[in-house]
Amino acid sequence: MQLGRSIYIETYGCQMNMADTEVVLSIMRDAGYTRTNLLTQADIVLINTCAVRENAEQRVIGRLGDFYHYKKANPNVIIGILGCMVERIRKDLMESEDFVDIIVGPDEYRKLPALVEAAKKGEAVRLSRVEKYDDIVPLRTGNLSAWIAIMRGCDNFCTYCVVPFTRGRERSRSQTNILKEIEALRNQNFKEVTLLGQNVNSYWDGTHDFSDLLSSIVDLNRNLRIRFMTSHPQDMSDKLIATIALRSNICKYVHLPVQSGSDRILKLMNRKYSVKYYLNLVHKIREAIPEISLSTDIITGFPTETEDDHKQTMDLLQAVGYDGAYTFKYSPRKRTKAWSMSDDVPDEVKNRRLDEIINIQRSISLHRNRKMIGQIMKVLVEGASKKSNVDLCGRTDTNKMVIFPKNGNVAGDYINVRIERANSATLFGTQVHVFNQSPVLTTRES
Ligand code: 5AD
Ligand code: SF4
Repeated sequence: MQLGRSIYIETYGCQMNMADTEVVLSIMRDAGYTRTNLLTQADIVLINTCAVRENAEQRVIGRLGDFYHYKKANPNVIIGILGCMVERIRKDLMESEDFVDIIVGPDEYRKLPALVEAAKKGEAVRLSRVEKYDDIVPLRTGNLSAWIAIMRGCDNFCTYCVVPFTRGRERSRSQTNILKEIEALRNQNFKEVTLLGQNVNSYWDGTHDFSDLLSSIVDLNRNLRIRFMTSHPQDMSDKLIATIALRSNICKYVHLPVQSGSDRILKLMNRKYSVKYYLNLVHKIREAIPEISLSTDIITGFPTETEDDHKQTMDLLQAVGYDGAYTFKYSPRKRTKAWSMSDDVPDEVKNRRLDEIINIQRSISLHRNRKMIGQIMKVLVEGASKKSNVDLCGRTDTNKMVIFPKNGNVAGDYINVRIERANSATLFGTQVHVFNQSPVLTTRES
């Protein structure tokens, strides 16, 4: 390892941030830096931050306290803050965290080596531009499943969301470069890719839309499982639904955030669809792909949310029957439109509504998972089970976690598992041998 060139990075927040960390590591590797997993060995300490909710920022602020002590004991260490918090509160960070040497937003990572060199000399560099990192091959931290950011930013301006401010306007990478990256993964034996974007359904590189991209990836490598997120209900086209239905190695799982079951709240959120439209979309998807697994995001306690609005969200959860839901308490974010609405739902009410939503979703997930008992499902083995050393875990293409006895299998194997038991989060079963099946999926072949 070169002296002064050891880099430690911690990542907070969404998968896009995880993917960005791999971009950062690739840029730094090319500039001669080596990653360390030990803070105590680091010459450069980076923290890739998330700004989407207040508690995410609080965790980062807490961690910066530890870095402050590290810097005091090791004054030559360079400390850098990366990611969405930078775009949100760059000025505050510069003032309050004066032990921090570099502050770099999501569009500025190419300049990181120059910024680090400048910081070593005590100089300050400031910049900002719109980035796609289209030509950068991330330094992957895993070897089974790879994230690929296909687009960046967002133009939707949901009124609660800070992302359009922290990550800027929507722009898509070229299909050609994405395909090149996927071709390289084949040689490294990756089994799964997850295409990432704030709104993948609106991917457009000037010639190809998201369905075109998916089809080209399928044609390139039929042994790869293809996942994608996040889908915005307003951009889920019939063409896209048909592509998912027809192509067997596109996973039968869609994360389709609804956010609320009340038309009044959806309007205030600027979500641009109604509950009726959303339910119709779910119906269309299920008709085309009966085995589809669906998940959602829900925000409770958005400004002015009443008990009746909340009840409508609970009704929607029942009506759709999601396989899973990510649930959040509304957190006001400066610069967003909702910041100027009053945050008038008391915290205890938000908490109670959140609990009710979590409980109802848990029983729906349990019901859906129990319906899988007796079915044989294709599972991609991911590794050891966290809770038992005689079992392995893996996922179905519908994104269900499955636990099963090892039976000599290793990470990266595709096996068939007969489901015997289920709780709301996990399926349990044993391996069975089935002949004449697609190597990748249980479902029909294209
Ligand atoms: N408060 C609470 N949840 C939020 N999300 C985005 N912004 C906020 C906010 N200000 C949630 C949305 C989004 C998910 C990634 O985070 O549900 O889909
Ligand atoms: Fe935020 Fe809405 Fe864009 Fe998602 S679609 S990133 S919630 S503004």
